[in-house]
Amino acid sequence: MTDKELKKKFFDFFITKNHKLINSASLIPENDPTVLFTTAGMQPLVPYLMGEKHPEGKRLVNVQKCLRTKDIDEVGDTTHHTFFEMLGNWSLGDYFKKETIKYSWEFLTEILKLDKENLAISIFGGNNDIKEYDKESEKYWLELGIPKKRILKLSDNWWGLAGETGPCGPDTEIFYWTGKENAPEVFDEEDSRWVEIWNNVLMEYSKTKEGGYEELKQKNIDTGMGFERTLAVLNNLDDNYLTELFKPSIYKIEEISKKKYKDYLKEFRIIADHIRSSVFLLGDQSNITPGNTGQAYILRRLIRRAIRFARNIDINKLFTNELAELIIDQYKEEYPELEENKNKILLELEKEEVKFNKTLEKGLKEFNKLIEKNNLDGKQGFNLFSTYGFPLEMTLELAKEKGLNLSKEDYEKEFVKHQELSRTASAGMFKGGLADGSEISKKYHTATHLLQQALRDVLGNHIEQKGSNITEKRLRFDFSHDNKLTDEEKEKVENIVNEKIQEGLDISYEEMSIEEAKEKGAIGLFNNKYNEKVKVYSIENYSKEICGGPHVKNTKELGVFKIKKEQSSSSGVRRIKAILTN
Ligand code: SER
Repeated sequence: MTDKELKKKFFDFFITKNHKLINSASLIPENDPTVLFTTAGMQPLVPYLMGEKHPEGKRLVNVQKCLRTKDIDEVGDTTHHTFFEMLGNWSLGDYFKKETIKYSWEFLTEILKLDKENLAISIFGGNNDIKEYDKESEKYWLELGIPKKRILKLSDNWWGLAGETGPCGPDTEIFYWTGKENAPEVFDEEDSRWVEIWNNVLMEYSKTKEGGYEELKQKNIDTGMGFERTLAVLNNLDDNYLTELFKPSIYKIEEISKKKYKDYLKEFRIIADHIRSSVFLLGDQSNITPGNTGQAYILRRLIRRAIRFARNIDINKLFTNELAELIIDQYKEEYPELEENKNKILLELEKEEVKFNKTLEKGLKEFNKLIEKNNLDGKQGFNLFSTYGFPLEMTLELAKEKGLNLSKEDYEKEFVKHQELSRTASAGMFKGGLADGSEISKKYHTATHLLQQALRDVLGNHIEQKGSNITEKRLRFDFSHDNKLTDEEKEKVENIVNEKIQEGLDISYEEMSIEEAKEKGAIGLFNNKYNEKVKVYSIENYSKEICGGPHVKNTKELGVFKIKKEQSSSSGVRRIKAILTN
């Protein structure tokens, strides 16, 4: 089965079950600071899972671009990826356990025609918070004829986002037998020949800040099918990198390196995976470039890691563009943003490659000097990183090659600190946001709309949103504008926002087509791929914006608006940080 066929079958099936096909959202979650990247299909849908109305209805289906970097060190085996695609179907307060279980089974056995003998199920087995196992799901699976021996109760069958709050619930997973011999009667999830292909999250709770669970008023279904893995399994392949998604990249790397994939599995996989991720990040509608913090840092790390492993297979020339062009060609039909941003993707990749090659050369020289002087210890090793930007992992690997053990305390301490930089960034720094559906994030969201309109009033209609991010403490808004704002301009903007708050304007929305929205003068991110129907939020006659919500009901609720900082974000883009006080 080809990649296109699998997607089409999935969409068509759910469309016949009255689902509406929606577009993939950006890889960078907008207004959701609980994570750096979109890590699952449900993430852009959180406001709707929490009760906000979705303009396309209560049943949705799509494929979502996702990126997970938690397992970056695992990339190199047959199944792990940083970027991946996730197929999903959703019920927003519509059908629940019975139907989703039935749909999954029907799709797998009747549409994909998988042999029932090769399927097994896991369900929620109860844990410390929710004691009861998921009896209801068990019943539905049994009714479909799955033998009890193939239904496993597991305590960790529970799904929620990495953030502290948000929608969550028990899940039921479907496994497919990939072994050469007949599938064993009894399902054993420890046996890696049983591969998980589909997760159905039965979303009944919302996790509160205090760590408790509240029953959701609206019960939802969130399912996720890992596209790469499912495609491999359906084609009897035990290596995702042998699917047609990666084969062109693998061949290209063979051509460039004059080495064989089978001799350098890890290197080839890392290069293919990381360059694909970098292409999708650079080509994303969110406009990110390599840098030293947050998402930009992860992007830089992915590109540099690919280059580092390319060196291991003797690729010493510029190679990223050749690979990127091929990936853009492969995906541009489904993700037109890649073609639109092609020049940027190629330029940024090459810039980073040239820069990193210089760093490597300098660092290697210093490294060799240290070796000659017999002077390489943990601290010196770390200096190579802090002074020359020489990758820490590389120092360790080279030291190992020279037979030196560099695991000195200093070095390890620094190394761990560094490694955790991005993790703490996503775990600790970012709290709140629209994902928690709280009143305070709604207030900041509405304030962001007022701010955008006020900026247009003061600076002109060239102002366009380039990014937006909300925490429970502040809003951050990036917009197109060349010059630093003067004190007078800042004051004017601030005053307008506060006037509009004082006026007590009502917020409401209407649903319409994107053309209608444009005609009515609504502002929006028009480089985004919108769905057929969108929501347009109005703050009485003052502001009109295409937006998913949620918002407060009246601007009076916002309190007092204050700009705390105005600075450059990137070339031609300014950034404002602002707070609301009572
Ligand atoms: N959110 C669930 C997952 O990522 C199902 O879509 O597995």
